[in-house]
Order: sequence, then C-alpha cells, then structure tokens
Amino acid sequence: MALPRLHLAHLPTPLTHHPELDRLVGAEVWVKRDDMTSGAAAGNKIRKLEWLLAHARQVQSTTVLTCGGVQSNHARATALVAAELGLRALLFLRAADPSQPTPTTGNLLLDRMAGAELRFINPEQYADRDRVMGNAAEALSARGERPYVIPEGGSNGRGALGYVQAMREIRQQLDHGLAGGPRGFDVVVHACGSGGTAASTIAAARFRNRPLGWPSLPSRISPPTGTGLAVVILPASSAAWLVQIAKPCRLRSTTG
Ligand SMILES: Cc1ncc(COP(=O)(O)O)c(C=O)c1O
Repeated sequence: MALPRLHLAHLPTPLTHHPELDRLVGAEVWVKRDDMTSGAAAGNKIRKLEWLLAHARQVQSTTVLTCGGVQSNHARATALVAAELGLRALLFLRAADPSQPTPTTGNLLLDRMAGAELRFINPEQYADRDRVMGNAAEALSARGERPYVIPEGGSNGRGALGYVQAMREIRQQLDHGLAGGPRGFDVVVHACGSGGTAASTIAAARFRNRPLGWPSLPSRISPPTGTGLAVVILPASSAAWLVQIAKPCRLRSTTG
C-alpha cells in the first residue's frame, strides 16, 4: 500500500556542526537545520503537512481546518501550503480574549496574507478544539464542501510520518558520512509542543528495519494542551501502524 505524500519541503536539510556549541554544551552536538525546510512555511510542520495534505487531496478536500495559538507555526505553515495547493484554510486560533483585536503581526500576518479564514476562540473553547473543529466541519459539509480536519500541530499518526521520514533522512546522512561517520547519535533533543515529533522519533527508533538506536529527549516549548503521555503515544502507535502496513512498499511516496 502506498501512502500518499506531497513533496513540499526542501530536503534533505543540512546537518551542521559548530565547535563553539560543543564547548558550551560539553558534548559533540550536531544540528538538523529544519528551519531550512522551506521559505515562509519553514519549520517542522511542513514535513507533517506533506503527508496530511496529500491525504486531504486524495480524499478531494476543499477546505483544511486546523488550530493553534494566535502565533502558531503550524497554523501559519498550513495556511501557506494550503494556499499553494489551492485549498481553503480555516484556522481556529486560541486568544486570551477573542473579543479584543489581535495585532496582525508575525505568523498571524502571514495567515492573513495567505488568505486563511481566522476564527479566534478562547482557552476554554480551545480545550475542546477537536469538537469545535468537528462542528465546523459538519457545517461545511452541509454546504457541500469537503472539509479535512488536521489536529493541533499536525500530530496524528499520518502527520507523525513526517519525522519518521526525517529520522530516516538523518540515518542516510550518517551513512554518507555527513555527520562525521556512521555512528548513530546517542540522543536526539527536540522541541515538543503537540507531541508529533516525539511520537515520530519513538516510532522510527522502534519500527524501522534498521533501528536508529537513539532515545528521544523532548523538551517542552509550550504549555501542555493534551493529556500528557497520550499525546505522544497515540500518534506514535498510529504512525508505527502506518509504517507497518506500508512496509511492503518501503514507505514509497507518491507526488500529488
Ligand atoms: C518550530 C517548532 N519546532 C518544534 C515544535 C514541536 O513539534 P510538535 O508539535 O510535533 O511537538 C513546534 C510546535 O510547537 C514548533 O513550532
């Protein structure tokens, strides 16, 4: 079974080494430059969106719904890439007080420039975001549209395939001697928000033919919005399941 994937990111991203950083940290540190995955849509989310938006296109969606904080990187990347693909984006953005105007700066400015529809919701509504987006999707369906809901951070099993693929990319870079030799890293340290990146590194280490052999050390960058470990385990097991069923074709990807 071939899982659809779009090729949206500039890959492979470089692995770089900075001796000054080694001295600061007290260990040999390599940096995976995923800030270089794209232009304005750069960051870690575009890797997840390659799988999620390929699926959205496969099921012929017309509108993509997702959520995040007002300055969400994920919402910004979704808005930009959806516009590029000719899909409408509807973003549910968490604001302390949605009745107050929110300054159109940073990611919010890019969301607007990409033509996304924005709906500001308060923290209580945001806690119930999956239902809020589900209701909006139902309303869109009733109007004849084909909505596609992407969870916070693009973190479900399908989105998690983005970093399963990224771990494979790192393995290939090591094999090609691009990080000082084939020896695997002892630990991968990465930012953790919605948990999808952590899920991917766990799934990649456990389920790839050639285990990577490195533990993942997520470091939280945003307040927990999910249910602790479940936010990591659910996408991880779901991604692992997708990797298993896709194994006969070695995660062959298709360009949409
Ligand atoms: C730039 C950046 N890196 C990493 C992360 C963490 O990724 P994840 O949501 O998969 O835990 C986020 C999300 O909050 C992010 O914006």
